[in-house]
Amino acid sequence: AVSPLKPPAPPSSSKSVPLTTLARQFGTPLYVYSRAALTCAYQAYAQACAGHNAKVYYAVKANSNLAVLDVFAKLGAGFDIVSGGELARVLKVGADPEKIVFSGVGKSVSEMQSALNAGVKCFNIESLPELHRLHEIAANTGKTARVSLRVNPDVDAKTHAYISTGLKSNKFGIAFDEARAAYRTAASMESLEIIGIDCHIGSQITDIAPYLDALDKMLELIESIEADGIKISHLDMGGGLGICYDAETPPAISTFVHTLLSHLAKRGHGHREILFEPGRSLVGNAGILLTKVEYLKPGAAKNFAIVDAGMNDLARPAMYQAYHDLIPVLQHRDNTPQALYDVVGPVCESGDWLGRDRTLALKSGDLLAARSAGAYSFAMSSNYNTRPRAAEVMVAGEHAYLVRARETVEELFAAEMRLPD
Ligand code: LLP
Repeated sequence: AVSPLKPPAPPSSSKSVPLTTLARQFGTPLYVYSRAALTCAYQAYAQACAGHNAKVYYAVKANSNLAVLDVFAKLGAGFDIVSGGELARVLKVGADPEKIVFSGVGKSVSEMQSALNAGVKCFNIESLPELHRLHEIAANTGKTARVSLRVNPDVDAKTHAYISTGLKSNKFGIAFDEARAAYRTAASMESLEIIGIDCHIGSQITDIAPYLDALDKMLELIESIEADGIKISHLDMGGGLGICYDAETPPAISTFVHTLLSHLAKRGHGHREILFEPGRSLVGNAGILLTKVEYLKPGAAKNFAIVDAGMNDLARPAMYQAYHDLIPVLQHRDNTPQALYDVVGPVCESGDWLGRDRTLALKSGDLLAARSAGAYSFAMSSNYNTRPRAAEVMVAGEHAYLVRARETVEELFAAEMRLPD
């Protein structure tokens, strides 16, 4: 008998892997990524950069699974890393050190040493104490460290306060007014070689205007630094381009890149090497989180759908009140009633929710897909409540590959020790 829940067969030309099959094979909660979607987003950047001296450095923090890094490495991407751990990951997939930039406000001595030994293209330096530390390490090892100073252009990216980074009140970057002097200081350090300048104004930015403001300020600064006789080879505009989670309308990747590059050309900087460090816009809409409805719990004030993925798996709603679309994997064709649900996880916190006030027709055992879960999703997951982290799968053509095994409970406390009796 044909199940009323059976989805229509996909067109014979399209290769696809049913999510129900993946849930059965790998269990839930399960992250599923699409290689085709990763490739498509990367190509949009690469094609828009073609013919210009512009390049993409994928911000590894958004999704650092080795399979994701491997896809981008093979496509020719560079990488923007923020820790020794991320350095190890990109080296593991064979990244060319000349295509690695090292960002972050709190680089430790050992992280700087490892990156210097690896021969990364550039350290993005965020403060004078960091500049002094890197200089000392480079001098002690007889190496030259290539640097770019991250400048805080003080523009309002109009995004969530936790992911806005280019305002004076943020911890990031060297203050705009102090940058020229910082460059002079850097130029006097013989174990450092200044190669660039960078900024990053925030994340999930859906408007180009703040970028153009930042670009104008950066160009003004570059001109004053170069007037001091210091050459700036590249300008790194950071990442931050937003994606559509709900009803946002961010510019297309190609529009974003073309607009910035043509603005540069208009300002007489068309020759300059440009770096982009996108994370979310490369991976965000290339992944979903599959979760199973455990219980439906009707209530006077609220109906709850309790699912098997929690805030430990997907922290963005709890942390930023972020919206992720939640869609049933199979639509009920019987008379399952629609109701208004808060979709919540099993974690013992009221903040443990994936979606609020969603109209859904649900039964226990149903699968839901949390969409736009390719960026800052698995990467921010934790083991809170001693919950093993989800498995990750990548679909490539008609094949699905396990790219991270589900953790076991034993692994979670394998490194712990009790006191002697
Ligand atoms: N470059 C730097 C220096 C960054 O700090 C970031 C992100 C990026 C590039 C990449 O930005 P993207 O293109 O992904 O917007 N956990 C938050 C997002 C934090 C972003 C941190 N920095 C979230 O889930 O929304």
